[in-house]
Amino acid sequence: MCGIVGVCYSSGSAEHALIAGLRSLEYRGYDSAGVALHAEGMPRRRAEGRVDDLVAVIDRDPLPEARIGIAHTRWATHGVPAERNAHPHRFDRVTLVHNGILENHDAMRTLVENELRTNGSTWSSETDSEVWAALLRVELGNASENPTVDDMLGAISRAMLRARGSYALAILHDAIPDRVFFARHESPLVVGIGESGNFVASDVAALLEETRDFVYLQDGQCGFVTSDECAIFDETLQPIELPIDTIEWDAESAEKGGYPHFMLKEIEEQPHVVGRTLQASIGSGNQILPDFAIPDEELARYGRIIILACGTALHAARLGKYLLEEAAGIPVTVDFASEFRYRSPMVGQNDLILAISQSGETADTLGAYRVAIDKGARPIAICNVRGSSLCRLSNATILTQCGPEIGVASTKAFTGQLLAIHLLALRLGRARGTLDDRAVEARLGQLRIARHAMEQLVGGAARDHVARIATQFAHKPIYFFLGRGPDYPIALEGALKLKEISYVHAEGYPAGEMKHGPLALVSKDMVCVVLCGDSPTYEKVLGNMQEVKTRGGTVVAITNEDKSEAISMADEVIFVPKTDAFVAPLLSVIPLQYLAYFVALERGCDIDKPRNLAKSVTVE
Ligand code: AGP
Repeated sequence: MCGIVGVCYSSGSAEHALIAGLRSLEYRGYDSAGVALHAEGMPRRRAEGRVDDLVAVIDRDPLPEARIGIAHTRWATHGVPAERNAHPHRFDRVTLVHNGILENHDAMRTLVENELRTNGSTWSSETDSEVWAALLRVELGNASENPTVDDMLGAISRAMLRARGSYALAILHDAIPDRVFFARHESPLVVGIGESGNFVASDVAALLEETRDFVYLQDGQCGFVTSDECAIFDETLQPIELPIDTIEWDAESAEKGGYPHFMLKEIEEQPHVVGRTLQASIGSGNQILPDFAIPDEELARYGRIIILACGTALHAARLGKYLLEEAAGIPVTVDFASEFRYRSPMVGQNDLILAISQSGETADTLGAYRVAIDKGARPIAICNVRGSSLCRLSNATILTQCGPEIGVASTKAFTGQLLAIHLLALRLGRARGTLDDRAVEARLGQLRIARHAMEQLVGGAARDHVARIATQFAHKPIYFFLGRGPDYPIALEGALKLKEISYVHAEGYPAGEMKHGPLALVSKDMVCVVLCGDSPTYEKVLGNMQEVKTRGGTVVAITNEDKSEAISMADEVIFVPKTDAFVAPLLSVIPLQYLAYFVALERGCDIDKPRNLAKSVTVE
């Protein structure tokens, strides 16, 4: 939900690396930003707003040269977006940045006031993060003025045992000028091991300019980095050795590559993502997911799949129900992760629990996943970030090969998830004997056809056509997206894309449900986007289109070139190549992504960083 960076250079100024890191992390939150350097007086600069606003503050009031520092970009949870609530927070001689929520901050605030015999005037912000700094001050006790490294580690360890909630912390102490301390629990934190120094950050994207060698910290771990050392400990301060992972991504792939927005770049990367994921997931002899950790004989034993996710990933999960039940003959239950975790879910050892998450850090998905694992379900996952919390909870993960997805609105990760589900369905179908080699081969062929068909839908005339339609309807107040069968989850996804970046009210609905109420909303102000390509329910969907048209609604049909009835009925038509109904969603989602993009562009919205949202929702 927030982004943190810590830099420990061997020489030179840390300021540039800190600011560059914040820019790469802004997708995680952009209410305010701040930086602190380890120099005389621990100078800080903070600003409400974006990283650009922080840079403007620094330009007006330059920072001294320092090779060590920490920085933060915020998505507000406790305390309104304001400079006083911007990180880094300082208490006595402790300065820190925090991503997460200190759930027992009231109790800790009282503890600090009692221990230090202060009163409410102790506090300079309304944030829980400031309480973390104060808690460390309390745990330092008599050593607080000039602690040794061991004093600091002891204080961090004791504070970790008291604190409840999620945290990724980067910490400085006035009296220890050569290192950044860190600690993590539930919020992501990586250590970067570089030539010019060592680093910590919320995710690798922040440090790709500095290094591609990373250590993924796990829950309950703390430690420090100096310019040439990295020390990691568990909560009891037992030393830990963690493997160093080298990222293939380079800084370039995380940049815009000439596009005006990350979202447009990521929409147009999708054919490449599908091709790369296919290539990475098919072994010799068409072996599906050769690296998947669960052998076929075990896979065949499970009697049900439960899929948990949030947002766009949940729409992929809903499509997964159609694909998995059809291909593998196994019952599939899909649930909002935020709902599943707080009811008394019926789940046990006969169940595969599948979590789908681009970031692998979504608090609701992780929380629900842990509930199911604790009840004995076998965890599997689909994720885009190697080393994420989700990947560590499941030792059977299908990694989508999407590269970093920066735009808050998920696009290429969604198609990567769809593809991963297709492959899991083929693997399960073969394991359960519902698909023979010929059927698997035929479906792989369909996926390869879809991958090439996607090329026809990105860029050029296809993009310009949707842009024209989007501009024409950009100021309509309400949109409905309708589909049946596998098109229904795509209708949900089209609605979510539109609402989250253009702030227009949009609903995705099963086409057959309109007559049970929503038809009352139809008017000339409503745009109804209907997914009506080749499918067993095409005739039914035509009837639903008619219901909308006769009541004055505007219909945009997403269909194939041979669907003359839909073409003649619609006000506007967007063609997609004809493919098998089960792979058609990989194609039909692309014009819906473009539609959302160009409506938001026309409405002057901030496409990559839409208001009130963040890329990775690591708090509940
Ligand atoms: C989708 O465009 C949104 N950004 C959001 O719904 C997102 O899909 C959801 O928060 C889940 O994120 P995850 O895939 O990283 O778990």
